[in-house]
Amino acid sequence: MTTYRVGVIRGDGTGPEVVAEALKVLDAVRDGFDVDPVEFDLGADRYLRTGDVLPDEELDGLRGCDAILLGAVGDPRVRPGILERDLLLRVRFELDQYVNLRPVVRYPGVQTLVPSHTEDDVDFVVVRENSEGLYSGVGGFHRKGTPHEVAVQSSINTRHGVERIVRYAFELARGPGRRRTLTLVHKTNVLTFAGDLYQRVMDELAGEFADVETDYVHVDAACIYFLDQPGRFDVIVTDNMFGDIITDLGAMIQGGMGIAAGGNINPEGVSMFEPIGGTAPDHVGKGTINPLAAIGATEMLLGQLGEQEAADRIDAGIRFACTKVASLRAGEMGYSTSEVGDLVVEGTRT
Ligand code: IPM
Ligand code: MN
Repeated sequence: MTTYRVGVIRGDGTGPEVVAEALKVLDAVRDGFDVDPVEFDLGADRYLRTGDVLPDEELDGLRGCDAILLGAVGDPRVRPGILERDLLLRVRFELDQYVNLRPVVRYPGVQTLVPSHTEDDVDFVVVRENSEGLYSGVGGFHRKGTPHEVAVQSSINTRHGVERIVRYAFELARGPGRRRTLTLVHKTNVLTFAGDLYQRVMDELAGEFADVETDYVHVDAACIYFLDQPGRFDVIVTDNMFGDIITDLGAMIQGGMGIAAGGNINPEGVSMFEPIGGTAPDHVGKGTINPLAAIGATEMLLGQLGEQEAADRIDAGIRFACTKVASLRAGEMGYSTSEVGDLVVEGTRT
């Protein structure tokens, strides 16, 4: 029997609460394989206690896992940027998780803020470039603190980086359950260098993937379409920063951050799955946070490991829970965090 080493970073805020539910569900669908959870004590508490954010030994430990489940990182007691950059982004970069895969799906029974959407209008996936762009940390200050201060933050777009993310998106668009349409979302009318590279790579690869239809939408217009015509999207490919922004809007048309899951994927290496919503400081310790996003991340983790049957059972469990909870928003579910986990477990059995 295969045993998967799953690295577990519970992290900060409500991270530990949602990870507990995700592990409960993982345990319920474990059939024909085993899971060896390996805990990593990383996040704000560890940093405040010891000053460590991500020691090299622990990074090596993460490299030795089959996959990683992350709760959330970030804490009001820690200056913004430290945990985000030196923990979350460092893992993404060092493990070369160059794909940030974010499904935008509205499950039956879920209420959203957009009354004009029908239930099956929202079903697409965003492929966010996850290893470069504005996130590369290239830049600096000049004359810092003076009236003549200059701050430069450069967007790095390599041929290699763009090609591998666009190729991944094309493959996905022709894969199971997709509708063979790939939309590039960028801002080619203003970002005439980076956007041009993305567009040229799209055009070149389109020849190789003749069965996939291609489209292009400016990022600002994409925000309009998320609300007005979400059904036009099947697979979206976009850069790191645009992908960050549009997937928060994507989460809202799914029903809220409580359901939005994502994967930081290295198709040839170790991938890390997380709810994309963050630490929700207002809900810590109250049992009011929605665990469905973390549970969805676990579904994606199992899919990546090739355990599709178990992943499908989690999907059924999430759909079942969605028909029961009053709202996907934290504190408005009508059930506690652990009761929602129990509903999913119940749904995995049907
Ligand atoms: C996300 C988050 C991160 C990002 C932050 C916490 C660095 O917003 O995963 O979307 O910007 O990628
Ligand atoms: Mn984000």
